[in-house]
Amino acid sequence: MGGGNQIKSVAVIGAGAAGAITAAALKAEEVFDVIRVFERRESAGGTWIYDAAVQPSLLGRPGATPSELDPPLEIPKSLPAVLPPNKQERFSQTPIYDVLTTNVPEIAMSFSDCRFAYGPFAPHHIPRQYIENYFALHKTDTFLELNTTVEDVSKVEHASNNGSNQWKLTLRKYDALQNADLWWEETFDAVVLANGHYSVPTIPNVKGLNEYIEKFPGRVVHSKTYRSAKSYKSQRVLVIGNSASGTDVSRELVSTAQLPVYQSRRSKAWWEGDSPSKGIEWRPVVSEYLPSGRILFEDGTYLDDIDTVIYCTGYKPSYPFWDAKKNGQPLWDDKKGKLVKSYWHTFFQDFPNLGIVGLPRVLTFRSFEYQAIALARIFANRNPFPLPPLAEQQAWEDEREKERAREHRKFHDITWENGETHEWLQGFFKWSGLGTLTGQGRTPPPLTKEMVWAIDNLKKYKPEGEEDASDISDFSEIYEWIVLAHRKRDVLGFI
Ligand SMILES: Cc1cc2nc3c(=O)[nH]c(=O)nc-3n(C[C@H](O)[C@H](O)[C@H](O)COP(=O)(O)OP(=O)(O)OC[C@H]3O[C@@H](n4cnc5c(N)ncnc54)[C@H](O)[C@@H]3O)c2cc1C
Ligand SMILES: NC(=O)c1ccc[n+]([C@@H]2O[C@H](COP(=O)([O-])OP(=O)(O)OC[C@H]3O[C@@H](n4cnc5c(N)ncnc54)[C@H](OP(=O)(O)O)[C@@H]3O)[C@@H](O)[C@H]2O)c1
Repeated sequence: MGGGNQIKSVAVIGAGAAGAITAAALKAEEVFDVIRVFERRESAGGTWIYDAAVQPSLLGRPGATPSELDPPLEIPKSLPAVLPPNKQERFSQTPIYDVLTTNVPEIAMSFSDCRFAYGPFAPHHIPRQYIENYFALHKTDTFLELNTTVEDVSKVEHASNNGSNQWKLTLRKYDALQNADLWWEETFDAVVLANGHYSVPTIPNVKGLNEYIEKFPGRVVHSKTYRSAKSYKSQRVLVIGNSASGTDVSRELVSTAQLPVYQSRRSKAWWEGDSPSKGIEWRPVVSEYLPSGRILFEDGTYLDDIDTVIYCTGYKPSYPFWDAKKNGQPLWDDKKGKLVKSYWHTFFQDFPNLGIVGLPRVLTFRSFEYQAIALARIFANRNPFPLPPLAEQQAWEDEREKERAREHRKFHDITWENGETHEWLQGFFKWSGLGTLTGQGRTPPPLTKEMVWAIDNLKKYKPEGEEDASDISDFSEIYEWIVLAHRKRDVLGFI
């Protein structure tokens, strides 16, 4: 491992769901001397921490890449150092809005050794509490270094000079007592990236949009800053996008905004029928913003006097801490929307002592568990099977890239209905194997029939024209979820 070195110290970047399960899996191996989890927020919880108010600067520039919007901070020349607090936007606040509930059945969202307090779909504070408690449950809370941002990750020669590498982390902790940033470095044998990918908002580049934003300050926002429909009372609102955020935001706005709420869609969501729900009017993609304030659509129609445009166009991963120069290659390819030289969405071909948990759009928490266990086992050097040779890993990446380009699908999206998710999890099952006879190491959980049934049949959004087959409709009335009478295409489309 790691060019022959034994891994004794591991750093985890991020204390969301991915960081929580990674810490637990590493601890369970009982071979690492040091496990540290660095989290830039004041507590564990990741995406699920609720920020009541967010800065409007979080909008970002239309068409800008995360590396343009979220560049690295300048690292102090000499460390340790105590410096004035950073003022650069780091996008650390979350996009959780008041009425947000989970949209993945809790059996698939929870880790295998502890369930959510209730489900199948729960308000946002439930996963937040769950993640924080999960650190306590496994006594991994002592690994946490909070209010601490990893600002740089650089490859360094192993101290023993045995030809392998370690990782030097440059860390910045905000100290409220001194109102100062404390900077220092720590070196680890291995690093796991668990820093999430829903922080930096993305807005498409549309003709005239930059000028529109300048001319009408505050009129264009991103769903990252949306908290409640109350803020848009009696306004004429245009929502862009119809994925999970676009759907929730438009539906909630119907209760307060001027009707109809306009929704610009590029493609059809699986839960949509042939016409919008009451109070919403569909429009195609925006083609241009005019200086008069008029908004033109691709079908030649237009809207005047719009008070707010809410871009619900998602997020892009950002890795400002990755020092591409010192590490010899970038980590992320903005153009291709994928990791550079990765394998199985978890490993890195050129860095056996680096891993990533949480990136693929698939089962979330439960699939993070498989990734974390496999990485912990491999770092502990107890995996029953090695990863395939590098040539095979490279062939996997090349083949997937071609196939995804052909199918116009994202590299790190993993499909459920064609068995791809099963095959992906099976890989981790093989590399992890069992723990030891004396109890060290976690074992990957089975993908039970109960869980598969929940994923196939329980939906937060009621697809248009779908019958509810629920015999427990009392609950589904309260939480507005549905048991499908018939299975739908793309059943993991809710994530
Ligand atoms: C609005 C919204 C709703 C969602 N709803 C669902 C849902 O219903 N069900 C579901 O399964 N999934 C949902 N998701 C996906 C959700 O992101 C995952 O469920 C999961 O929480 C991701 O966990 P994570 O640990 O990978 O990332 P995150 O939760 O983002 O955690 C990453 C952590 O890393 C920290 N971090 C980042 N960079 C650094 C750094 N340089 N140094 C130190 N710390 C750093 C962040 O502060 C954060 O705490 C939703 C996402 C969004 C945006
Ligand atoms: N728990 C919940 O209920 C909940 C709520 C919100 C978000 N989430 C999660 O948060 C993550 C992000 O979701 P998200 O909805 O914010 O982002 P998203 O899933 O990435 O969706 C982005 C949306 O923007 C659309 N879009 C992009 N460019 C457009 C353009 N020029 N014109 C019109 N539409 C355009 C996309 O259309 P195409 O489909 O054509 O690409 C898509 O509908 C997901 O994992 C989601 O499940 C969950």
